[in-house]
Amino acid sequence: MELIDGKKISAEIKEEITKEVKAIKDNDGKVPHLAAVLVGNDQASETYVAGKEKACKKVGFSSSVYKMDEDTTEEQLLETVEFLNNDPEIDGFIVQLPLPGHIDENKIIEAINPEKDVDGFHPVNLGRMVIGLPAYISATPNGIMELIKRSGIETKGKNCVVLGRSNIVGRPVSILMSLNNDNANATVTVCHSRTKNIKEITSSADILIVAIGKPEFVTADMVKDGAVVIDVGIHRVKSDKTKSGYKLIGDVKFDEVSKKASKITPVPGGVGPMTIASLLINTLKASKKEIYG
Ligand code: GUN
Repeated sequence: MELIDGKKISAEIKEEITKEVKAIKDNDGKVPHLAAVLVGNDQASETYVAGKEKACKKVGFSSSVYKMDEDTTEEQLLETVEFLNNDPEIDGFIVQLPLPGHIDENKIIEAINPEKDVDGFHPVNLGRMVIGLPAYISATPNGIMELIKRSGIETKGKNCVVLGRSNIVGRPVSILMSLNNDNANATVTVCHSRTKNIKEITSSADILIVAIGKPEFVTADMVKDGAVVIDVGIHRVKSDKTKSGYKLIGDVKFDEVSKKASKITPVPGGVGPMTIASLLINTLKASKKEIYG
């Protein structure tokens, strides 16, 4: 069994981006600039946005955060989105989710100029992705595809089973894996809460992508010998073996599944670190106008 080291691969991506930003600066080009809009005081969102800012600094990007109060109106947020859509200094921006309940998230996402939508949440980017056109692809699916590509995993003609059909992971990654290009061309099956005989289906997978949101759902008897296993889950559970009293586990029972898998992502340190790297990739593409010309 080989570990798919997301920490190492994301560090390599950041290194590549750092070099490219340095070259841009040496040629007096425009430094990529990512903005994040943060509404309210959600602790997890504040942590995520701080992580994104830190990553921008590390690779040499400019970054800014637009902090707005919890009681910001939908109209005020739409004004901020419009401002960022029109500010030539900002190459790409994200509106951190979740938003306070009185704001319609879909309305906000649809107001973002798709050319600056580095989260890849706008329906235009999702639609372009589905038909195989250049598009911003959201962080987790893009991170999974980068992990697969950079680990040299063959996908062409392989059976890929995706557990979970969420709009942010399962569904987009299932589409990406079935696209007609060199990094995909897999035969894809999507399993969800109404799927019968899940075990039979997962046992046929050469590549098993698990984004079902249930701790240690996938056990060894569900996995084929030599399968590649990508675990998107992350759950904090009590543990008497760690100093903090907690540990992180995935959707896959790592100890037993790792004995059967040929390659597997650990939790933490697998898919997680790839998400910010994906956002940086998209921001660099935005500054180079790679997607929309
Ligand atoms: N909340 C949790 N993950 C994300 C993300 O990738 N983008 C945004 N905008 N909000 C999030």
